[in-house]
Amino acid sequence: MRVIETVRELQSLADAERAACRRIALVPTMGALHAGHVSLVGIARSRADRVWLSLFVNPTQFDEVSDLARYPRSFAADLARCREAGVDAVFAPAQGEMYPPGSQTWVEVAELTRGLCGASRPEHFRGVATVVSKLLLAAKPHVAVFGEKDFQQLAMIRRLVRDLCFDVEIVGAPIVREVDGLALSSRNANLDPETRRQAPCLARALEAAERAVAAGERRCAQLLHLVANEIGKAPRAEIDYAELRDPETLEAAPDPLARPVLLALAVRFCAPDGASGVRLIDNRVLVPPRAAGARGDRSAGPPTALEESP
Ligand code: PAJ
Repeated sequence: MRVIETVRELQSLADAERAACRRIALVPTMGALHAGHVSLVGIARSRADRVWLSLFVNPTQFDEVSDLARYPRSFAADLARCREAGVDAVFAPAQGEMYPPGSQTWVEVAELTRGLCGASRPEHFRGVATVVSKLLLAAKPHVAVFGEKDFQQLAMIRRLVRDLCFDVEIVGAPIVREVDGLALSSRNANLDPETRRQAPCLARALEAAERAVAAGERRCAQLLHLVANEIGKAPRAEIDYAELRDPETLEAAPDPLARPVLLALAVRFCAPDGASGVRLIDNRVLVPPRAAGARGDRSAGPPTALEESP
């Protein structure tokens, strides 16, 4: 497995692979790898001849310096995990490689990033859009794989790729969870034991809403009430947002529900000592039974897919 640190070297390797007619799949990550990341590698493997994974804790997507400092880092273990997962090359650039001195160019996806996580993290998506653009230009992949756990990020990247004519296919990957339902996340490493015990309330809230929709509930307020009720059972949890949105445009869902909707959640857990909390996100696409046969897919594809639905 090659470990590459410069954009130049990665671009040369991409040119050589493309000249040999080999397909490249890229899995962008910020490291602290877990089984969710490894599942992305598996999907990448099924779609390409070469699987490349980037390890870069992108400073521009953190709005608080303390959050960046606390972000878990485990470079040696990450490399071992990549080797085990059959990654062909790891791209691990230094900060100055991705942001050379004097950098002043940003990529911004306007509408899709306004609400949900964008509301409380105004700079976050600009940082993600910029670094993902750079990674795509550096690795020149045919395919790039992103998790549905970060649903708004995935929707934004699909739009970015379409709007800027990047020649790459974006593939979404299902959320990998712990046995108690908690979505795997690098940030879970920062949960103290009691908060970890309460953290599955997000998954339970999503399940409660899913069950209600399956039983015929269509009213948005009622579904959000169920969510608040489940989250309320975890004393340390505070809802940052709980929203029903169109899975593709991320606009407000029709009320009552008439087609599949995204239920997106962000919950902040505050430790009793007042120490800075941990914010977790999760989501699920709720499919009203009548629409299930018509559009059971969970992807955040282009708007045309939605327009085609009945
Ligand atoms: P990171 O949080 O490391 O996640 C890397 C990729 O793994 C993302 O596409 C994310 O959605 C996916 N992922 C995380 N947890 C997952 C889970 N439980 N199941 C499935 N996939 C999961 O997302 C980022 O990094 C960054 O914003 C990045 C895109 C790399 C840009 O810096």
